[in-house]
Amino acid sequence: MSVSRSDVDVIGGDIPAVKKFDLIKSDSKLFVGWEKPKLLLVFTGFMNGYIEPCGCAGRDQMKGGLSRRHSMFKELMKNNWEYAAIDAGNINKGFGLQEELKYNFVIDESMRLMKYGAIGIGNNELRFPTEVLLLYTVDVPNSPKYYTSANIAILAFNPDVVKPYRVISQAGLKIGIVSVIASSLQKDLNNKEIICADAVDKLREILPKLNNEKCNKKVLIIHGSDTEVTTIINFFPDEFDYIIGSNTPAEPPIQPNFVGKSMLIEVGEKGKFAVAIGLYDDSKTPFRYQRIPIDFRYKNSEDVLKRMQLYQNQLEKTGLNGLGIKPIDDSRVEVCGKYSGTKQCIDCHEEVHKIWRKSKHASAWNALSKESIPARVNDPECIACHVVGWNRKERTPYKNGFIGQKATPELINVGCESCHGPCENHIKAEQGADIKFQEKLRKAIKLSATDNNVKKICIECHDGDNSPHFDFKTYWEKIKHKEKE
Ligand code: HEC
Ligand code: HEC
Ligand code: HEC
Ligand code: HEC
Repeated sequence: MSVSRSDVDVIGGDIPAVKKFDLIKSDSKLFVGWEKPKLLLVFTGFMNGYIEPCGCAGRDQMKGGLSRRHSMFKELMKNNWEYAAIDAGNINKGFGLQEELKYNFVIDESMRLMKYGAIGIGNNELRFPTEVLLLYTVDVPNSPKYYTSANIAILAFNPDVVKPYRVISQAGLKIGIVSVIASSLQKDLNNKEIICADAVDKLREILPKLNNEKCNKKVLIIHGSDTEVTTIINFFPDEFDYIIGSNTPAEPPIQPNFVGKSMLIEVGEKGKFAVAIGLYDDSKTPFRYQRIPIDFRYKNSEDVLKRMQLYQNQLEKTGLNGLGIKPIDDSRVEVCGKYSGTKQCIDCHEEVHKIWRKSKHASAWNALSKESIPARVNDPECIACHVVGWNRKERTPYKNGFIGQKATPELINVGCESCHGPCENHIKAEQGADIKFQEKLRKAIKLSATDNNVKKICIECHDGDNSPHFDFKTYWEKIKHKEKE
């Protein structure tokens, strides 16, 4: 039976009107003219910590997210398509308690729901402490794990601790998956309990064993530099059916590329795409290829959102301190004093305050508390640019900056001091009669729209990820304020 997906092309249902941007047009229809495959291979990878689109650039225009990804898999299951899901790894970006909590949400909760069969260990995963890594590599009864690496060992090479390869058996087919990390990415490892071997040596050692498994298809995942990926591929011509290298472009190609007989699976970055290969018992069309953008045509899966909420609850319970986020010194405090909050400015700057109140900066907290589902008000990854008094780059509060809605309610939103800096001493000066003190502090908080440094302040928050359409002139025009014309 032929399954046409054009009728389910818009899977999300309630799609809000999107201005100047037509995703369906730009990403075309999916699985058009596909017969039901014997088995569908679904590849993802290099999520780099991007678990859900933040919504900063408009959720509809942003691709990716685990809750949509789950809906994509559910859609396949609804049509009774059998699949094998494989992730290349580098699921996390950093390390530390927040990454560990997040990781639990991603791997143990969400990717289990999606029935992943194998994940390659990437260099980012190796940033976790040993005991955390073990949680995700050692299979335990009733809780199989997915991670695999041929040339990475924890303490010693032992297939019970890190599987050198994994085999997925589905729809009567066997898919073998091997993953390696090349030497350039082994260098900055500072965990002595992790042992790295040469990728090519280990692949040579493992291949006979993998070949004994008589897999129908073999997948090789390579984490490494461009040249390393090419070099390793050249060592094993025609050995693997599919190769995923970490030199993947930002977007997977519309049609697959090949090196010899191996198809290159280019999954893109930040989990924005999945790549699907349909396998058929048909000598004329043995496979079909589809790049799947994880966009708003897929609804957010309630199952994943529920788990995401639990993750957010954990962040709240743990608190910034518990997460190891310690407020840092702010060099401006010595001259300018502490943060005072936007309310403190109203009395003397009524006109400017009126303009600010109408701007989106005045509702930036709402974006996290009301517009984000679930709310992200305890998530340092979001708070940083939606409040007063954080170091945006470090995602860390300054001493006297925002630390929580209850403790520092006056510092929610992008306030005056998000741009002008702390104003405690300016207020003190203006309330006194020391002209010199007044002038010194006015100078310290003075900004000029023609000064290039002001643009730099904007870009700390309006960066390429969170504000891709930022243009200083047009944006400033929307929030400009002058005391007197
Ligand atoms: C690096 C700074 C930065 C971080 C971190 C950040 N945001 Fe934003 N956010 C922005 C900026 C800047 C805008 C406005 C973008 C624009 O209009 O060009 C924005 C806008 C938004 C909006 C849109 C509100 C509207 O009016 O449509 C939402 C929702 C949002 N952010 C949620 C989040 C969430 C959730 C996170 C954490 C996952 C997050 N933000 C992290 C800077 C950031
Ligand atoms: C007690 C009154 C008072 C308070 C409160 C006050 N200001 Fe001012 N501010 C002044 C006066 C007076 C000036 C100088 C005249 C002018 O530019 O309006 C000034 C100037 C400024 C300037 C312009 C500096 C320059 O020379 O370009 C900025 C920026 C500013 N204030 C920000 C703030 C912020 C932000 C707050 C709240 C955190 C605040 N002020 C609170 C009285 C006050
Ligand atoms: C502390 C972080 C931060 C800084 C600094 C910042 N912004 Fe924003 N900006 C935001 C956030 C967050 C939003 C989105 C708020 C929302 O929609 O709820 C936003 C929204 C805006 C918007 C509304 C966009 C729209 O589509 O309506 C404009 C305009 C804007 N910012 C201009 C600027 C300019 C110009 C600067 C520099 C002078 C600047 N911002 C500095 C965080 C920041
Ligand atoms: C997004 C960043 C940003 C925010 C938020 C912001 N300002 Fe400003 N402010 C600026 C810039 C940039 C200038 C310089 C304007 C110019 O050169 O014309 C400025 C100028 C001023 C001036 C001097 C105006 C003049 O006539 O020269 C005052 C006073 C002021 N801001 C007060 C405030 C107050 C009060 C708030 C909050 C209610 C606030 N600002 C919020 C960026 C910001």
